[in-house]
Amino acid sequence: MYSRDCFCDSIGYKAYRVDTISSTNTYFKENYEKYDDKSILIAKNQTSGRGRFNRVWESDDDICFSILYKKKNYNNIIIPLAITMVLNKLNISAGIKWPNDIYLNNKKLAGILIEDIYSSKFCASVVGIGINMTDKKEFDGIGLSKYTNLSKDQLIFMILEYIDKLSTVSIDILIDIYRHYNIIMNRKITYKNNTYLACDVTKDGYLVLRNSKDTITVTSDEITIHSQF
Ligand code: BTN
Repeated sequence: MYSRDCFCDSIGYKAYRVDTISSTNTYFKENYEKYDDKSILIAKNQTSGRGRFNRVWESDDDICFSILYKKKNYNNIIIPLAITMVLNKLNISAGIKWPNDIYLNNKKLAGILIEDIYSSKFCASVVGIGINMTDKKEFDGIGLSKYTNLSKDQLIFMILEYIDKLSTVSIDILIDIYRHYNIIMNRKITYKNNTYLACDVTKDGYLVLRNSKDTITVTSDEITIHSQF
């Protein structure tokens, strides 16, 4: 077990800290039985941070943590919404690039990796959150530190509070708010070499794409936003 920190005990989360780890998501996936529901592991640095589609996630003094949930929830909707709503409350006009990237000024600010653990039935969900504090030139990422004076712990605390607030909201309303903050709605996008208009997000969080030939539903995939409308 890593060192315990009480900063979010008041809202029912148990925080643990580590300086360097391979990946906070991997750690919780391998050790979820030893930790309670709503445990969080915060790392200063990861040596093998993971992103979606097996990509590498670099974090160097950025915000980097995973949350362990032992109950099923609409995390694919709630987590990007919570981060985006916290930022907007701080007057930082971030939005969601479907399904769960957080963008600011057309650049990636944060990424989310949600990994569910099953062994015949649902056991746990590991929600990994990486938020850039500094710009990342390698992949055109933007950093948060120039937009806020809040500490990383203050930001994490606010995100956890918003996750819990949103967990009490019905899925229909969550999807409406998610659509509102989604930066790709009504924009031209490329999916599998074809151009579509992103026209809706379904109640399951799937993206509906339309062009003159087809209307298709995308469950979880990579899309490219056109810079021009
Ligand atoms: C993505 O945009 O592809 C998702 C990035 C998720 C990165 C976070 S950092 C904390 C947690 N641990 C990991 O190895 N990945 C997630």
